Amino acid sequence: MNRRELLQWLSRGMATTVAAIIGLPGIRYLSGSVPSSAEPVSDYQRLKRLEDLPIGRPVMIPVLGCKRDAWAQSDQQVVGRVWLVRRPATANAGESEVQAFNSVCPHMGCQIQAQASNQGFVCPCHRAAFGLNGQRQNDPVSQEISHAPRDMDSLACRVVQDPANGNAWVEVQLQAFELGSKQRIVRS
Ligand code: FES
Repeated sequence: MNRRELLQWLSRGMATTVAAIIGLPGIRYLSGSVPSSAEPVSDYQRLKRLEDLPIGRPVMIPVLGCKRDAWAQSDQQVVGRVWLVRRPATANAGESEVQAFNSVCPHMGCQIQAQASNQGFVCPCHRAAFGLNGQRQNDPVSQEISHAPRDMDSLACRVVQDPANGNAWVEVQLQAFELGSKQRIVRS
């Protein structure tokens, strides 16, 4: 191999290496092997002081976490939203004082909103209605059967006492579920 052939061989090798480094993340992104949305949040996250939650009126809380795509990672991004409903003090013994629901509609993924009366929820996309306990209901006006294939997705929720100051805090475990399915299937 003469000097010219050696240089050609080296420059081809370098070009291939550079192309692989630049192109691989894009290929992985397109093929779906890199999560483009939020990573599942598995731990309980502290969302709201109990005393700041009104009884019987739903409150939506954004959940912050780490978002990563093929190119970058950013902390403190909104990775989901949770509806919290504080029950009246007369709730059955043993039940959690607060219920938490993922705000994503199980039909096609729109953001569920509170009804104007605050007596339940409604999805703006196809008008699926839910009670304050997350159960599906027929359309309150037309009585049309709900488009949602299941109730709102409830989330693990607990009230914990902060030993430092005695405040009671609501903590929730955010999870995402498959859309369009009658069963609750956790999204990996
Ligand atoms: S996306 Fe909510 S009812 Fe269709």
